[in-house]
Amino acid sequence: MPIGTLKGRELLLAPSILAADFARLGAQVEEATAAGADWLQADIMDGVFVPNISFGPLVVAALKPITTCLLDCHLMITNPEQYIDEFVEAGAQQITVHVEAVTHLHRVVQQIKAHGVRAGVALNPATPLQFLDEIVADINLVLLMTVNPGFGGQQFIDSSLDKIRRVRALLDTRGLDQIVLQVDGGISARNIRAVAEAGATCFVAGSSVFGHAAGVAAGVEEFRQALA
Ligand code: DX5
Repeated sequence: MPIGTLKGRELLLAPSILAADFARLGAQVEEATAAGADWLQADIMDGVFVPNISFGPLVVAALKPITTCLLDCHLMITNPEQYIDEFVEAGAQQITVHVEAVTHLHRVVQQIKAHGVRAGVALNPATPLQFLDEIVADINLVLLMTVNPGFGGQQFIDSSLDKIRRVRALLDTRGLDQIVLQVDGGISARNIRAVAEAGATCFVAGSSVFGHAAGVAAGVEEFRQALA
């Protein structure tokens, strides 16, 4: 069930497990699922594309049987085309690659979709929207990074709001309303309404959910209240 609705658009919350307690990851994912998270985002990092190493398909496969959330894999890695099959095998239902990390983006998007998996394209904060022009009609999701990728717990980059509005205008102008406009980084109950009003429809939140002082369910509920 969506975390909220705004202007007739369903809003989806995608807690990022990067911020979870990995000593009890399964329990945390079950808590987020029970609390009504819509998607679950796996932040895949290779220490090359971003200055951090996280985890791979093994963890996604371990989580698949214990959640009903859509498993959303955000590949912050170089040469993501080499790993698409493994993430599909692990149970990914949405795979997002960075436009900055691939040479043949159209081919990678087709490779993802050939598996019947949703394809997303991510842009870092300084990457211009023009990089979407020739691919946007082929994808299921646009991910705008609202922090520089690599770490959770960072501050939302304020200039992202204008970028979100411009992507929303692009999607609306082209009649691509079915495309999910996802944002990732520094999303909290304090800014989610403004980010939703700018046009985002899917919200990746790590520290605001898994780092919430009152627990995961309270973190999810705080978002639901902020959008009520
Ligand atoms: C950055 C990561 C983080 C994470 C969300 O590469 O993608 O943005 O998912 O982290 P928070 O919600 O703590 O900013």
